[in-house]
Amino acid sequence: MRKDTPIDFNEVQKQIELMNLKEVGTASIREIKRLVDNIEEGTGQRYVRMEMGIPGLPPSEIGVEAEIEALREGVAAIYPDIDGIKPLKQEISRFVKQFMNTDVSPKSCLPTVGSMQGSFAAFTTLVRMNKQKDTILFLDPGFPVHKQQCKVQGIPFDAFDIYNYRGEKLREKLEEHLKKGNVAGLLYSNPNNPSWICFTDTELKIIGELANKYNVVVMEDLAYFGMDFRQDYSKPGQPPYQPSVTQYTDNYILFISSSKLFSYAGQRIGMMVISDKLFETRAEDLCRYYNSDLFGRAMVFGTVYALSSGTAHAAQYALLAMLKAANEGAFNFWEPVKEYGEKAKIMKKMFTDNGFKIVYDRDEDKPLADGFFFTISYPGMTGVELIEKFVYYGISAISLAITGSERSEGLRACVSLVGREQFPDLEYRLKKFHEHHPVD
Ligand SMILES: Cc1ncc(COP(=O)(O)O)c(C=O)c1O
Repeated sequence: MRKDTPIDFNEVQKQIELMNLKEVGTASIREIKRLVDNIEEGTGQRYVRMEMGIPGLPPSEIGVEAEIEALREGVAAIYPDIDGIKPLKQEISRFVKQFMNTDVSPKSCLPTVGSMQGSFAAFTTLVRMNKQKDTILFLDPGFPVHKQQCKVQGIPFDAFDIYNYRGEKLREKLEEHLKKGNVAGLLYSNPNNPSWICFTDTELKIIGELANKYNVVVMEDLAYFGMDFRQDYSKPGQPPYQPSVTQYTDNYILFISSSKLFSYAGQRIGMMVISDKLFETRAEDLCRYYNSDLFGRAMVFGTVYALSSGTAHAAQYALLAMLKAANEGAFNFWEPVKEYGEKAKIMKKMFTDNGFKIVYDRDEDKPLADGFFFTISYPGMTGVELIEKFVYYGISAISLAITGSERSEGLRACVSLVGREQFPDLEYRLKKFHEHHPVD
């Protein structure tokens, strides 16, 4: 390997040895983070950090102010209702109507401790509904923690990478998995972490139709709600609406995170929206674990009660205020986050100008949107090799291999923490990388 790398070669080697890492490329996200922290400290040089998906923007002021006011009024002393304070439930219901054109009654809308608690609770409850259906299916690539949530609960899961099954091809592949009859629910994120693919209406329709045919609950993770910036989904009550499987099935659970949309990750508050039909579904098998055979009751008074007995009271007021502002068109929350898409566009070009390829690059016939993440590979290198080398060039990212992607040559790059003032550094480092690793 060349020693004239942008970050001092010997210092990088020293830090790798100090951390006792066998191989940098297969280290966990947190280990890479620690290694990069140490090198930055040792060299005084700043990395282009693309490994972690943290919001890079300040939290919504509207939320912060409402939360402070609620705390001053004393809500910290009072247990909130398990399924959320009434005005928040109403505002969540209004949000899905305004921005998804979807009707769900307030009763079926719950705040959760981050959308992660929503998915955990959904897995728990769904696999207990029907003795024959004990498995969760993931449409990969995906967020590794979701699989971890199944693992810690001993829930079996199945998965496939949709890379080769876009458009109509999805039908046969998905049916192959659902035909087995053991799938209780399937989950995907849209826009997708890590690839930033967005399902087309054709694909959402296929998912909805097959969910109806095989009685499978669709869990749609909308952590990046409205962030397919090729369209403007930000006008309340006006099309276009955030595309969703809700148009094609009434057997769904939505997870809407406030972490990225409102840059509110720290307060751990998200939303779980259960279709009214599913909320009212009776399933005798639930009685093995719960006092009720009603899915909605089992979820609220069984699972969520057991997990955390509800969601932090003050944070619910923050969410209420942010949703109200969005629903009334008083504040456009998508304006600030558009910056992610704009940065991605510039950064992707820097990569492709220097020999890199975008791994997931199309939604059927359309070029991919620019957003929070994008995926890259370099000819002739595995993802593990690429991460290993990047450390010497002042760049960090994570391997797609841990996301269920079959494209193990690829890396996920997250744009949120990269400041525009770092673009010249990124460009210089990528040029050096290209120069040191010529492509035939
Ligand atoms: C796809 C996906 N789902 C869920 C989450 C977690 O959301 P929350 O912070 O609301 O728990 C993330 C956060 O990175 C994500 O990328």
